[in-house]
Amino acid sequence: KAPQKRRRSPICATAASPPATTSIKQEVTRRRNLAIISHPDAGKSTLTEKLLLYGGAIQQAGAVRSRRAQRGVVSDSMAMEQERGISITSAVMTFEYEGKRINITDCPGHADFSEDTYRTLAAVDNAIMLVDAAKGLEPQTRKLFEICRMRSLPTFTFVNKMDRPAMNPFEIADQIEREFDLLTYPVVWPIGDGDQFRGLFERSSRLVHLFERGQRGKKAVSSTLPLDDPSLKQVIGDALHAQLLEDVEILDTMGNQWHYESVLQGDLSPMFFGSAMSNFGVELFLRSFLEMGRCPPAKDSSVGLVAPDGESFTGQVFKLQANMDARHRDRLAFVRIFSGVFEKGMKVNNSRHGRSVALTRPQGLFAAERYTVDTAFAGDVIGLNNPGVFAIGDTVYTGSKLAFPGIPSFSPELFAYLKNPNPSAYKNFRKGLNQLLEEGAVQLLRAREDEGNEDPILAAVGQLQFEVVQRRLKDEYNVESGLEPLPYSLARWVVGPSDPWKAVDECGRLFGVFCAKDRWERPVLLFKNEWGLNNVLADHDIELKPWAFA
Ligand code: G4P
Repeated sequence: KAPQKRRRSPICATAASPPATTSIKQEVTRRRNLAIISHPDAGKSTLTEKLLLYGGAIQQAGAVRSRRAQRGVVSDSMAMEQERGISITSAVMTFEYEGKRINITDCPGHADFSEDTYRTLAAVDNAIMLVDAAKGLEPQTRKLFEICRMRSLPTFTFVNKMDRPAMNPFEIADQIEREFDLLTYPVVWPIGDGDQFRGLFERSSRLVHLFERGQRGKKAVSSTLPLDDPSLKQVIGDALHAQLLEDVEILDTMGNQWHYESVLQGDLSPMFFGSAMSNFGVELFLRSFLEMGRCPPAKDSSVGLVAPDGESFTGQVFKLQANMDARHRDRLAFVRIFSGVFEKGMKVNNSRHGRSVALTRPQGLFAAERYTVDTAFAGDVIGLNNPGVFAIGDTVYTGSKLAFPGIPSFSPELFAYLKNPNPSAYKNFRKGLNQLLEEGAVQLLRAREDEGNEDPILAAVGQLQFEVVQRRLKDEYNVESGLEPLPYSLARWVVGPSDPWKAVDECGRLFGVFCAKDRWERPVLLFKNEWGLNNVLADHDIELKPWAFA
């Protein structure tokens, strides 16, 4: 397929340099960034698309999902071979709404699930947890929420598909509170579900927003009635009216109190309901999010807190992407900006190797299209051409030297020995593998000496990562490789109680558990399932963690 023609994206108009009078502080406070965490099919593409529609960033609903449909089940990176640039869809989407600038950093799922999905959550300031109203919490949402919890990310809940038969909304809130130990605060409350879905009650204004089944894709225009309006009973029906009054009383008298500090600390989730497909509840959510969402905060570093409106530019690489199309073998490093002003062509230092790099061709990303960024601020994400100078977790800065804490390695779920069938290609094999490890494309473990196999073990959170490694070894280093899968699905780093290796030795022989070490020679135990993990925790004095910092 021919490479896509580059058009200026609609967002370019808003990405221009700010007027000279705009202070860094003003720019920072009007920024909100977010990632949507959900299980496949909950409606993430649909919701993203509707949000972009409000921002005028796309003209027509269907744009995001039709791109996704073009890709079918083919993963982003693989599709890149066929269609240059399409995977850029999964990076970041930016739009402006009512004076605010919103960056949606995509958390790839489905076949694209990889460590990048987790790393994205290290680069955003807010998470939107999208829940299918009929299904409640699902496995991928659980995994992703763990990272939100670890980062104390403000998490907003959007319960989608209310136009379909749904679980009781109290039950959904209860599930979130019990399973995630996360309090909920419904900002809106649904009236009925499925065919009986009549609208949303907005608690702050005491207004009922009536649901009218409209045309898919259009911006919804809904009428409102005050809760105490005498005609409401007739409009929504006696039974739903009585139910609504009862629900509102329960929420007001027994529900959680609103406490904004708890939202910012990730302990209280503002909760919304709606139907992304019918574009109902989306604008209510967007407006509240802009009000309540966290704007770029100060960031911890080796020299203390870095203020987002500080003069010096700082940022961190959280994702690397290699284009696998042989004709356009460029690489992009995605940098989340934490402070200062980014300007095209500026020189920055990389804290890992101390070299200085001129950022001459910075790219902004909008869906499948790239545009050149002239200026960017804390909270923005830019794509930099990466001729091998950036790795995951690198800090880039101007001014005095500093480094942000590294981005952790997350518990892999797939493990396989990587075999080199051609010993004469050993040098290239090692070189390629080292490069891919440096980039963070995959994790590498080795069996502990007594397991008796010295082949490297690739460890990944998604199958795609293995495919990328094998293909890049072939395309870029001209080496073949083979995979020999291992039957484990969980990894835990040993962190205590005292010296980790001593703790492992004291456990003696662990049945059905594989003992490995990571690149930093730290012990990592591989388990077949949760049951195996829980047995070890119950029987031994050992402390385990599902992630580790470099
Ligand atoms: P994902 O990115 O989270 O995987 O989900 P996506 O938006 O692709 O939505 C998955 C399916 O759920 C789609 O149906 C979509 O239309 C539907 N959907 C999303 N939001 C809503 C909603 O609010 N109500 C209802 N009833 N359905 C919703 P599909 O059959 O896979 O595609 P299509 O035939 O609708 O295009």
